[in-house]
Amino acid sequence: MQHILITGANRGIGLELTRQYLQIADIHIIATCRNPEDATHLKSLVRVHPERLTILPLDVTNTEHIATVVQTLQQRMNKLDILINNAGINPTDKNTRRLGELEGAAIQEVLYTNAIAPLLFTQACVELLKNGANPRVVMVSSQMGSLDWTKSGGAYAYRMSKAAMNMAARTLAMDLRAHNITTITLHPGWVQTDMGGSGADIPTPESAAGIIQVLQKLTPADNGKFFKWNGEPHHW
Ligand SMILES: NC(=O)c1ccc[n+]([C@@H]2O[C@H](COP(=O)([O-])OP(=O)(O)OC[C@H]3O[C@@H](n4cnc5c(N)ncnc54)[C@H](OP(=O)(O)O)[C@@H]3O)[C@@H](O)[C@H]2O)c1
Repeated sequence: MQHILITGANRGIGLELTRQYLQIADIHIIATCRNPEDATHLKSLVRVHPERLTILPLDVTNTEHIATVVQTLQQRMNKLDILINNAGINPTDKNTRRLGELEGAAIQEVLYTNAIAPLLFTQACVELLKNGANPRVVMVSSQMGSLDWTKSGGAYAYRMSKAAMNMAARTLAMDLRAHNITTITLHPGWVQTDMGGSGADIPTPESAAGIIQVLQKLTPADNGKFFKWNGEPHHW
């Protein structure tokens, strides 16, 4: 049985990854989200797959939540095969996006949620991952964090946060390779979710199916790489 933890699993890409993974045999999903009581889609899925889906509360910015999740997993299975750091925010407020209106505290919240929190959560999961089979860590990043791709202004906080997330992934890859843990960063596509909007390029099932394919094919030779959802390499 593979144990796969997904953050921000109550909607969007995280929920679709959960749905599609549950179609595959011998997989146990730990679907984490801020408010399990309100996670109606996850609660429906757990009624169908009570043995293969566990819902745990996790606000990724809350260090007590992180400690509780790790302790719960240590007690239940003491291993983790795949960690998908998917939770993220992309506020539309001008104080995170527009030059002239930027505010430090608003930018800091985005940096903390999208870059610092997934790094700290991964750090907390290292001992569990060491016990995993072909253990893999994925940072669900964005093309918006690519220096090469950036040809327009604005969206400072989100772009900075994903660039920092990319560097966290690359540095984790160096630190964790001694334990055979493969760490990558991944652009999921421009996806039709609450964040991506209905005019985005690809539907959520296409993004999630691609991500699952990328993860199934990952080997230690991929450590430290930046991928697109369709398996192509992404520019840094
Ligand atoms: N959609 C796109 O086009 C696109 C493109 C590039 C990258 N991405 C990245 O893909 C990931 C998923 O995006 P999405 O499109 O699925 O976004 P979404 O539909 O807005 O969902 C975001 C998810 O993250 C969760 N989240 C936010 N802050 C959190 C926190 N502090 N703790 C725990 N969970 C938190 C949300 O939970 P709540 O329901 O509690 O808010 C929600 O489950 C994000 O990292 C995003 O940056 C998306």
